Amino acid sequence: MSTSAILLVGGMGTRLLPLTLKTPKPMLQVAGVPFTEHQIRKAADAGIAEIVLATSYKSELFEPYFGNGERFGIKIKYAVEKSALGTGGGIRNAANLLADCDQVVIFNGDVLSGHNLAGQLEFHKKNQADITLYLTQVEDARAYGCVELLENKQVKSFLEKMENPISNLINAGCYIFNRQIIDQIPQDKVVSVERETFPNLLATNAKVFGYLDNSYWLDIGTPAALVKASADLITGVIHSSATPNHAGDNLISPSAKIGSGCVISNGSVIETEVVVESNCQISGSIIGSGAKIGSNCKIIDSIIAPGAQIQAGMVVLTNYLGF
Ligand code: GDD
Ligand code: MG
Repeated sequence: MSTSAILLVGGMGTRLLPLTLKTPKPMLQVAGVPFTEHQIRKAADAGIAEIVLATSYKSELFEPYFGNGERFGIKIKYAVEKSALGTGGGIRNAANLLADCDQVVIFNGDVLSGHNLAGQLEFHKKNQADITLYLTQVEDARAYGCVELLENKQVKSFLEKMENPISNLINAGCYIFNRQIIDQIPQDKVVSVERETFPNLLATNAKVFGYLDNSYWLDIGTPAALVKASADLITGVIHSSATPNHAGDNLISPSAKIGSGCVISNGSVIETEVVVESNCQISGSIIGSGAKIGSNCKIIDSIIAPGAQIQAGMVVLTNYLGF
């Protein structure tokens, strides 16, 4: 049984504005590499041989970095939607590039998770499912796809972003589709997999199962979540084989210059060519390439854009500057 993958990376990243003005959400730096690299490594680590990136917004920025995937141990192809086709339309469009395969793992492009992908694939096969959704539990399901499960773990209902959620079980953004099911999605049309495909398939009694895994899960779709994901990767709360080697609880590029008396901690990342002058305190933050931080600054749980200049003595708390 061969498995391929599709990564949905075509969204606008509106909730991350202004960070996504020049850079699409999946290419933003998280723990020293573009976020997408963590997901590509996760697919490669699970033994998946090829992945198609379903791109739209700023599509031209992906291929120069990821190339044919050789560096990441996986074959990478690029499907471009001239205008965004939605999650379902994007899946259908990307599937045209897939080599022959039995099933396809589909990743939302903004989820960092420690879930057991091999376990989800096993579960899918054991149930002879058409689709298996990875599910997690959250306190407030309103911002997500809410799922109701039957006793046998089959999905009873799927309701995207509802005001009064019927459960705390949510779609965690990684699906396994049998290859032929994707052909039921109309070609070249805007389709939402969450609002159209899943409810339609349930109405026609397709075998849709839910695989509950309560390990680490985070949608990096807001600036606060993005900076948390980065710090969690550096401090080892969550593992990714894409995180560069580092010592202790920070990642400092060898080309950065750090002045005397600085304390850089709690998962902070100092990217290439950054200059931090003396006596700064940087905690849980990302300092983008080439940024200059004046002396005596305090930067906590924040993101400083590449090339930005922060004046001496500034206090930056949960803020996103220079984008
Ligand atoms: N190719 C392509 N084309 N990708 C798209 C498009 C499109 O038109 N629209 C969105 N995407 C990608 C985004 O880039 C993102 O990686 C993924 O699809 C999900 O879109 P979001 O905009 O991040 O959706 P969400 O976070 O509000 O909700 C989704 O994720 C939740 C879990 O984080 C839904 O799948 C929910 O059901 C789910 O609970
Ligand atoms: Mg999202």
